Amino acid sequence: MLRELKKNIYAVGVQDWDRRLFDELIPLPHGTSYNCYLVKGSQKTALVDSVDPARYQELLANLAEHQVKALDYIVCNHAEQDHSGSIGFLAEKFPQATVVTNEKCKGFLMDLLHIPENRFQVVKDGDTLSLGDKTFEFILAPWVHWPETMFSFLREDKVLFSCDFLGSHLATTDIFACDDTVLEGAKRYYAEIMMPFRSSIVKHLQKLEAMDIDLIGPSHGPVYKKPFHIVEAYKDWSSEQVRNEVVIPWVSMHGSTEAMVKHLTEALVKRGISVKPFNLTKTDTGELASSLVDAATVVLATSTALVGPHPQGLYAAALVGALRPKTKFLGIIGSYGWGSKAVETIKSLLTNLKAEVLEPVYIKGAPRKEDFEALDKLADSILEKHKTLGLL
Ligand SMILES: Cc1cc2nc3c(=O)[nH]c(=O)nc-3n(C[C@H](O)[C@H](O)[C@H](O)COP(=O)(O)O)c2cc1C
Repeated sequence: MLRELKKNIYAVGVQDWDRRLFDELIPLPHGTSYNCYLVKGSQKTALVDSVDPARYQELLANLAEHQVKALDYIVCNHAEQDHSGSIGFLAEKFPQATVVTNEKCKGFLMDLLHIPENRFQVVKDGDTLSLGDKTFEFILAPWVHWPETMFSFLREDKVLFSCDFLGSHLATTDIFACDDTVLEGAKRYYAEIMMPFRSSIVKHLQKLEAMDIDLIGPSHGPVYKKPFHIVEAYKDWSSEQVRNEVVIPWVSMHGSTEAMVKHLTEALVKRGISVKPFNLTKTDTGELASSLVDAATVVLATSTALVGPHPQGLYAAALVGALRPKTKFLGIIGSYGWGSKAVETIKSLLTNLKAEVLEPVYIKGAPRKEDFEALDKLADSILEKHKTLGLL
């Protein structure tokens, strides 16, 4: 498929309409794409990133459609295999091509893909590469997801190739982002991939804001035209600003914890707080992650199974701990039968968060009147905490 972004700049990646799971972990309700970009300068031709190795033949077909007989440079912004995985094949197919990347990424490509050292040209932050009438400027962006990530900026055309940063998992025939579905997908993607690196994200957003950018070509999902508000959205998501919302990931084997979640949800709603309960056995991990982006409070709710939290509760606690949302308050509720270490285990998994842990409501068996009252008190306390943040 021939898709032109600007004169002599083409999207030559592939759409993966049917993929439904990423990293054996993240559900992909709308599929995804592996974007890469062909840049034809007056003297040299470069390819920015590649595609998942399973789709290499489609990339070759796209290059053939552009009558690409030789590549001078293969720019690698990120070593993760869904972008870099075809670079080894490309290096064999185009023996004169140089792989252009930073020192750290070079190391990854040598380890992950066994690309020989003599194929590389190493660039540092701010270095440039001329294709004749087009010039790349490289911007190192460590810990925007991986330690070796970088962006490539085409100066004359003002096109930023941002790899995973600002991307979305979305297969589409539209080359340019044109509706809110993209933003929804981008938020989910931010939550799943970028959120743990929030402090690094903030720094790099500031860098991008100071630049004159016309188009942003990420490595998943459609390309953003400058007016599109992806950078503004990222600023909001990565800021300290939270919403008057409580997210409750929950699991219940025999209904006790479920009754507690129901009661707490209603108590919070009565107090003017919006609530997103997620039944962990049915929920989509991406939706849960997305909801964590800006909720002021998370309450983990789980029954006890074999001393600790139920495995689904354990997973949710590990996920919240790993994604490091900006959540300000944490609650723990649930039920046990004879002895439980669920509260301690959950707390230990959440130490990554800079959140205040509220008094847990962890009860024996099915909730009684006094347990519901304790949940009302928890709702009161969440209300007070949200008020102190000026959320209502
Ligand atoms: C498979 C299984 C394992 C359990 N292991 C424990 C345990 O180690 N310690 C404990 O106190 N209760 C244990 N229980 C009891 C439940 O935690 C208890 O019945 C609780 O009230 C269930 O809450 P729920 O109705 O929300 O599932 C276990 C129950 C099941 C079904």
